[in-house]
Amino acid sequence: MKFYITTPLYYVNSKPHIGHSYTNIAVDTVSRFYRMKGCDVFFMTGTDEHGEKIEKATLARGFKTGEEKRFVDEIVPVFKELWQKLGIQYDCFIRTTDDYHIKAVQAVLDKLYKDGKIYKKIYKGWFCTPCETFWSEAQSDAGLCPDCKRRLEKLDEENYFFKISEYQNWLIDYINSNTGFIKPDFRKNEVLGFLKEPLHDLCISRSKSRMSWGIEIPFDKNFVTYVWFDALINYISGIGYPGDAGRLNKYWPADFHIIGKDILRHHAVYWPIMLHALGLAPPRTIFAHGWWIVKGEKMSKSKGNVVDPAALIDRYGIDAYRYFLLREVPFGLDGTFSEEALVTRYNSDLANDIGNLLNRTLTMVEKYFEGKVPNVQRTAYSVQRIDLLKEKAIALADELDKAMPQLDFAGALVKIWEVINVANKLIEDSKPWTLAKEKKTDELATLIYTLLDALRIVAISISPFMPGTAKAMMTQLGICDDKKVLKPGDKINKSAPLFPRIE
Ligand code: MSP
Repeated sequence: MKFYITTPLYYVNSKPHIGHSYTNIAVDTVSRFYRMKGCDVFFMTGTDEHGEKIEKATLARGFKTGEEKRFVDEIVPVFKELWQKLGIQYDCFIRTTDDYHIKAVQAVLDKLYKDGKIYKKIYKGWFCTPCETFWSEAQSDAGLCPDCKRRLEKLDEENYFFKISEYQNWLIDYINSNTGFIKPDFRKNEVLGFLKEPLHDLCISRSKSRMSWGIEIPFDKNFVTYVWFDALINYISGIGYPGDAGRLNKYWPADFHIIGKDILRHHAVYWPIMLHALGLAPPRTIFAHGWWIVKGEKMSKSKGNVVDPAALIDRYGIDAYRYFLLREVPFGLDGTFSEEALVTRYNSDLANDIGNLLNRTLTMVEKYFEGKVPNVQRTAYSVQRIDLLKEKAIALADELDKAMPQLDFAGALVKIWEVINVANKLIEDSKPWTLAKEKKTDELATLIYTLLDALRIVAISISPFMPGTAKAMMTQLGICDDKKVLKPGDKINKSAPLFPRIE
């Protein structure tokens, strides 16, 4: 089975922050989950490099008009380095300045123009540069952007338009008859609400005389195309459109476009219509996640409250960071980021629960069984509370199969932690130190073996979320990627505790 999943392409006007890392960590986690299940996963991410916002950033950094490519070439490695640091295993990193992407965008423009879906008229209206979005007179909020509330730029120029109004009824029907198309459900309702108003045809060009940093419109050299029209096409250009039909047909339609809630309209209205006009199917699911808020406000450079992922990773480690983002807030809702909350989760869930469980179990293997997996006569001994842990651990795979296709990361982690908590409680209730003193070897061996096996299942289950931790756990348990079973008599490799407490 194929599984094609994408992140938005990030604007390269500044360094990546936790909001960007959030999407990539989420997509990396689902991708690893499906890869583990044997799927042919294609994970695409990249950078959005054209448009007025980038042009302005270029000039602000002391470069000149015409030097935009030099500027973006300096920023792109910062994104790639962060993804590498975070263990993000993407299959394609697409840049909208890549040649193959430019050709694909021009092929789309040519096709839609030839099909009569693009026409020219005078555009009188407003443009928001930070959002790279056109607004009509009625939508403008007294000259301010209805989304970000910043000042709009007035435009009165000839432009090309894409006839999206023709497709409004088709889209409404499509959304209504495909319940999984826009997720979460409240976002679907938001889009349907937006579609209650008549759709205006989409302005898809910028005159080069005003803004030339973009992909040239193939049938009119005086214009470049609108940055959103350009960027959305990455989802098909990155898998072979238009030249490689084999690869395109293999992966398209995308199984998931994961995006932030602020770019829902572009993905759930413009993009499906573009695809439909091209004769391609819409993506299976567009999932809009919430925002990370810091001290009650959206992060922004001007407010000086941008959280730098690299600094947090250096302080707490990659996996603690990945865990926190996916566990703290249900995917789809907004969340408040604070370092104190991260430290609290670190100490309770990671140091106390999982770290401690591994450490105390392996200490007992060393103390009571010479550091080897105990030999257990499975039929000889059965204690209800030990069986409970076995059952819980075995049921985990099904729980994850239910949670992950819904992108319910927090729910999946809660289920994994239920097993960890049952295991920790089992140690307290069974008092292995007393069993050892009383020479109840069968029960002790069964108990320790069950704990080791639960830890093995936990390690496999957390590997999409915390790949480094999963590997470290497996090494300590004496198992590896190719041999994920415990064999009585095999040596364990206990080393330093995984998550030392932060005081
Ligand atoms: N370039 C466009 C996307 C084009 S996709 C074909 C863009 N780029 S962006 O860099 O501004 O934003 C990328 C993503 O980061 C968006 O999904 C946005 O929602 C997300 N985030 C930006 N700030 C965020 C938070 N504070 N929290 C969570 N995600 C946020 O839009």
